[in-house]
Amino acid sequence: MSDSIRLEVSNLVKDFDTSIGIRKLRMRALNDVSLYLESGKVLAVVGESGSGKSTIARIIARMYGPTQGEIHINGQLVSGKMKRNELLKFRRQVQMVFQDPFGSLNPTHNIYHHIARPFIVHKGLKGSALKQAVIAQLEQVGLTPAADVAERYPHQLSGGQRQRVNIARAMAAGAQIILADEPTSMLDVSIRIGVLNLMEEMRDKLNIGFMFITHDIATARYFAERIAVMYVGHMVEWGSNEQITQSPKHPYTQLLISAVPNPGQRIDTPLEGGKRGDIPLWTPQKQGCPFAGRCLKVKPECHEQMPEVKEVAEQHFVRCHLY
Ligand SMILES: Nc1ncnc2c1ncn2[C@@H]1O[C@H](COP(=O)(O)OP(=O)(O)OP(=O)(O)O)[C@@H](O)[C@H]1O
Ligand SMILES: [Mg+2]
Repeated sequence: MSDSIRLEVSNLVKDFDTSIGIRKLRMRALNDVSLYLESGKVLAVVGESGSGKSTIARIIARMYGPTQGEIHINGQLVSGKMKRNELLKFRRQVQMVFQDPFGSLNPTHNIYHHIARPFIVHKGLKGSALKQAVIAQLEQVGLTPAADVAERYPHQLSGGQRQRVNIARAMAAGAQIILADEPTSMLDVSIRIGVLNLMEEMRDKLNIGFMFITHDIATARYFAERIAVMYVGHMVEWGSNEQITQSPKHPYTQLLISAVPNPGQRIDTPLEGGKRGDIPLWTPQKQGCPFAGRCLKVKPECHEQMPEVKEVAEQHFVRCHLY
């Protein structure tokens, strides 16, 4: 079992330069996002399409830098400039698993190659030790007979098996935190549960911590200890699984929970209910609560000022003028 680590994201802001037609503008994809991930625990990040979930994961994984804010692991800065050896350590510790299990595998290499690479790069294995490690890793994620699977190419596997290869690859690198960006949403429901169970086993046996990004509240409820709800780049509510699913406080979370009673129902289209109103495009100049235009309990100050974070119960936080 690996050492315990805690990854802390503090006050993350991310602006993108974009354009609508010929008009150029700067949009704010993330605004003041703070959260933490720890070994052996799952934080689910839930929200509609475009709410900024993947952007958080990509910034943590250093695919791009934050506009503001910092990320630390056990108190050490892991955003911005890093020394080469620290960067290598970070790349071992934090791994990403993506939504599309096919897109993240190289079609011209067999499965052996995919799993061997991280063992070579991060652990310096070679020869028979390398072969043994690859076979054991494939067995650990349920890809058997491992010697046979190792010879195959990505197109010769099912979607669920390909996602197991991605998970095996993250484990081979020695991941302590896995950023899983909708890892099961492209899989059939029947296969999803197997992949979820595998991640659960990794959490419990190997003490791996997950950021689990999902559209699907039912999956979050099943898998996560804590849940964070995003709306238009803002974290509007976060707390334990039970707090969020049993006593949601933010009108958006309430809408989300009531609108998604069925397991597997996706929330990638704007939810019905609440006031009709477009999901706003957020910019650095905007003030107020991003949900104000759709909220049934809206008050004048909601349009003027972003609510402060309030702790409504122990470790249960909400950003809403009602509290
Ligand atoms: N590289 C980029 N350049 C410009 N805008 C971007 C870029 N990446 C993301 N965005 C914008 O930032 C916002 C958040 O995007 P993000 O992909 O993080 O959302 P998401 O919650 O992961 O959505 P989905 O559920 O559809 O995956 C969106 O408005 C998106 O268009
Ligand atoms: Mg996304």
